[in-house]
Amino acid sequence: MRICVGSDHAGFELKEAVKAHLLALGHEVEDAGTYDPGVSVDYPDFGALVARKVISGAGELGIVVCGTGIGISIAANKVRGARAALCTDPYMARMARAHNNANILAMGGRVVGVGLALDIVDAFLGTSFEGGRHGLRVEKLENQA
Ligand code: RB5
Repeated sequence: MRICVGSDHAGFELKEAVKAHLLALGHEVEDAGTYDPGVSVDYPDFGALVARKVISGAGELGIVVCGTGIGISIAANKVRGARAALCTDPYMARMARAHNNANILAMGGRVVGVGLALDIVDAFLGTSFEGGRHGLRVEKLENQA
């Protein structure tokens, strides 16, 4: 699978750990930055960048990380067609895919440890959208003004 990742400085370390994990699993990874944790950057830039890549098809799914995961998930969700889900455990990640057809996973690098984060990633990537009644609900999300 081709996966786009991105973070601000606060999410950099976890983004790097996620990237290494994805590569070890045989996925293709496009890293939208940030590349230097020593430079303070703005999470809206990276949330939008990853979301645009996913929407344009440059990646099938995206993973974004900031300090809490909140700012970067809000930023990603401003891009039409993006469904970014901030997850703090594997159950949320499974449901985000199964029920919400989330195309972007958001996590907080200052919230979850690496071990938990990688379990969250595995749950997200290992679950498919269930469709059916959930499809109608996701369509409503897309048509919301
Ligand atoms: C950066 O200090 C921090 O505000 C940011 O990473 C994120 O947590 C915002 O939601």
